[in-house]
Amino acid sequence: MDRSARFWDKIAERYSQQPVADETAYQKKLQVTREYLQPDMEVLEFGCGTGSTAITHAPYVKHIHAIDISSKMIAIAQGKADANDVVNVTFNRSTVDELSVSDQSFDAVLGLSILHLLENKEEAIAKVHRMLKPGGIFVSSTACLGDTMLRFLELIVPIGNFFGLMPLVKVFTTKELEYSITDAGFKIDYQWQSDKGKAVFIVAKKAE
Ligand SMILES: C[S@@+](CC[C@H](N)C(=O)[O-])C[C@H]1O[C@@H](n2cnc3c(N)ncnc32)[C@H](O)[C@@H]1O
Repeated sequence: MDRSARFWDKIAERYSQQPVADETAYQKKLQVTREYLQPDMEVLEFGCGTGSTAITHAPYVKHIHAIDISSKMIAIAQGKADANDVVNVTFNRSTVDELSVSDQSFDAVLGLSILHLLENKEEAIAKVHRMLKPGGIFVSSTACLGDTMLRFLELIVPIGNFFGLMPLVKVFTTKELEYSITDAGFKIDYQWQSDKGKAVFIVAKKAE
């Protein structure tokens, strides 16, 4: 099994019991996202974790396809959906690169706290762009560790990865993230950060 999947499987139960780190910022991101959602929308969420965000947005869209590399995360998410009678979210264990869907399948794609955990975020963003319909939106919230002194993590992270102590983590700046998104063909429509050093929230649009 992939090292990342093993790591996330191991911590899934604990992760599901942790409160949201910054509830006010989380609620704002939910609210901004909701302003872009429509009842007829097909949505993809990758790296969905234990499914709380997908379940929260479910009443406002037609369907959400939520995927995660960790089967344990997916099992917890499915349990929550069942307990809440949520029937328009499909949870599947999958990475973005494993996902096989036709181009222009989705109206919106969500990738929250995930881009910095991918081996190649540019490839993932390019695939998101292909999977979106014209005018579709990509909503992301990403730790940009390169903005702070945490740049030293670039040295530490490979050691932690080697011993399976931490997930794969990539270090980049907000500027580098913005370039990755716009180079893929998106236009950034909305950008917000609750505070310096916090996750960068971006809503990017594919051209009509
Ligand atoms: C920090 S958690 C974020 C979960 C959720 N999006 C949230 O905001 O609470 C990262 C999630 O991404 C998943 N993940 C890590 N690498 C992945 C990959 N390559 N493809 C899909 N999911 C991945 C992990 O299993 C984990 O559930």
